[in-house]
Amino acid sequence: MNRTTTNLPPWPYPRWIAHRGAGKLAPENTLAAFRLGAHYGYRMFECDAKLSADGVPFLMHDATLGRTTNGAQALGAAASATGSDHPWAVLSQLDAGAWHSRSHAGEPLPTLENLARYCIANGYFLNIEIKPTPGQEEVTGRVVGEYAARLWQGQAVLPLFSSFKLEALAGAMATAPHIPRALLIDALWDGCLDKAQALGCVAIVCNHALWDQALVAQVHGLGMRTLSYTVNDDWAAQRLIDLGTDGIITDRVDLFSPAAL
Ligand code: G3P
Ligand code: MG
Repeated sequence: MNRTTTNLPPWPYPRWIAHRGAGKLAPENTLAAFRLGAHYGYRMFECDAKLSADGVPFLMHDATLGRTTNGAQALGAAASATGSDHPWAVLSQLDAGAWHSRSHAGEPLPTLENLARYCIANGYFLNIEIKPTPGQEEVTGRVVGEYAARLWQGQAVLPLFSSFKLEALAGAMATAPHIPRALLIDALWDGCLDKAQALGCVAIVCNHALWDQALVAQVHGLGMRTLSYTVNDDWAAQRLIDLGTDGIITDRVDLFSPAAL
């Protein structure tokens, strides 16, 4: 264990986290992707969660449906249509795999509940990035918090929430104060560590290039863990390990083998 982590609370999560299930090797945020990530030896996954029009948390990265579903064709929806424009009964009929490859055609969008059941049944860990449709930050945090509290009730290890949006973390803190939270940071901004502490965050998840020895020591000194996204090169991963950081989110499930590292 790195010297700077010895006084931190225990950290139950593995170091290696598969981004969106299996990076780019399968359609992101589908169950097919999480199964593929698990096949490569991953025991923790990152996913992106947002709300349908009727408040069902489901998995999708983008606000709009166009890149990763057939929403435009199937619904005659404009390219600007978002997941929150449609109820889950409609979203659940979309094809979220054909854009990636023929072998994944017909793969549905999963609900957060679908993925929770898969992870709990298999003993996998989950990092739920709360990725609100713009304007729905607080309510998305609240609802994802409610769902996760119910789904993981009685489980030994809870999911880790993360978000770039302070309002989303505040919402999750209101409905699921016992589920750990992390602040996502793409570029350092004034007061970001203070905000993370005010929201009771247990970790900072940074664009990996931001970490250096001083920042790692500062964040560890504040009692928070140090995680990185999205790390797809050997040299970058080695630098983060040498710095004593605590978690690495990667697309390259085919390059980094958690069992061997
Ligand atoms: O949660 C880490 C990472 O996924 C944040 O960026 O855009 O890939 O969701 P993004
Ligand atoms: Mg994400």
